[in-house]
Amino acid sequence: MKYNFDEIVNRENTASVKYDLRNEIFGSSDVIPMWVADMDFKTPDFIIKAIKERANHELFGYSFRPESYFTSIVNWLKRRHQWNVDMEWISFSPGIVPAVNMAILAYTNQGDKIIIQPPVYFPFFSAIENNNRALVENPLSLKNNRYHFDFDDLSDKLKDAKLLILSNPHNPGGSVWTREELKRLGEMCIENNVIILSDEIHADLVFKEYKFTALASISDEIANNTVTFIAPSKTFNMAALATSSVIASNKDLKEKYDKVLDTIHVGLGNVFGTVASEAAYNFGDEWLDQLMDYLSGNLDLIQDFIDKRISGINMIRPEGTYLVWLDCSAINLNGKDIKEFIIHDAGLGFNDGKMFGTGGEGFVRMNIACPRETIKEALIKLEKALSKL
Ligand SMILES: Cc1ncc(COP(=O)(O)O)c(C=O)c1O
Repeated sequence: MKYNFDEIVNRENTASVKYDLRNEIFGSSDVIPMWVADMDFKTPDFIIKAIKERANHELFGYSFRPESYFTSIVNWLKRRHQWNVDMEWISFSPGIVPAVNMAILAYTNQGDKIIIQPPVYFPFFSAIENNNRALVENPLSLKNNRYHFDFDDLSDKLKDAKLLILSNPHNPGGSVWTREELKRLGEMCIENNVIILSDEIHADLVFKEYKFTALASISDEIANNTVTFIAPSKTFNMAALATSSVIASNKDLKEKYDKVLDTIHVGLGNVFGTVASEAAYNFGDEWLDQLMDYLSGNLDLIQDFIDKRISGINMIRPEGTYLVWLDCSAINLNGKDIKEFIIHDAGLGFNDGKMFGTGGEGFVRMNIACPRETIKEALIKLEKALSKL
């Protein structure tokens, strides 16, 4: 491997949400932080180089995103995901969560029904509730250790909804939705005039055995009814550079989104995000392929450790994302809360599954984007805490 993912980088005292807010989040700084979805690996060298080169100019007045920025996105989507996008379809957002919120404002009115598929990324709930829209749940079903859409339930719920927010691939369940699953979902939404917001922030983080499908790449009809969100932030560990894209081939949908973006006036972005994104998409293939191999090794280690040394925990092995959803419902906690056990007994900063809504009870989410040594340390802590129950 050209890149060293074993390197331990000290992130403390860098205003890191994951490390420096442990006390606020877990009530203790003495936990291994494996929660918020960023990585403990250095942002790749070709991105750092681009940022440094821009910084060397020593002048940071207003800037816009040049054509080369858009070309890098278009080429990446074609090369990595066989999705043909026209650069005219691409808008900006500082992040995916702001983009979801802006899209809700653009396409719905107060009281309108918006469907989500729990257990799911928790800011989807707040985006709906904070904007006074009505939240409708279409819970996923867990079969054979994989999450699936519940189409029967969905067909009912779609009848009077306006919008569906999809996590593709799925956080926290790790399903990389297949072309067939997405086609059916897309067609059902068209039949019912329900626009889909497809959050594809984890699109690049798919394990070799699986194939990511961009929802809007399936057909022109589905593209016409879809607004897609992508970003280099998760893929290349650059969330703090606040640069993401919103893609809509449907002119009307794009114009409506852009109107909200213009009104709020956050469309300029920041110049370091622009050059970093361009470098990521132009030069990131090899680094990303090696990252996925390394993460796959982390998954193997966890599976092996659980099989041999831990009982009561089942890993839903993710097909994509670096987030591992662990079913802890079979542990006999003697009346203890799973959150309390994980944080206080095991000393681990995982997310409590309850945060992800219906179906999340009894689960925890573990972020495995860290050196293997950290994973080993965490698993040993977990084993020790279980043995003391
Ligand atoms: C599905 C999903 N969407 C969005 C985000 C965050 O997006 P952003 O930081 O760009 O707002 C995350 C981060 O974990 C996520 O998992």
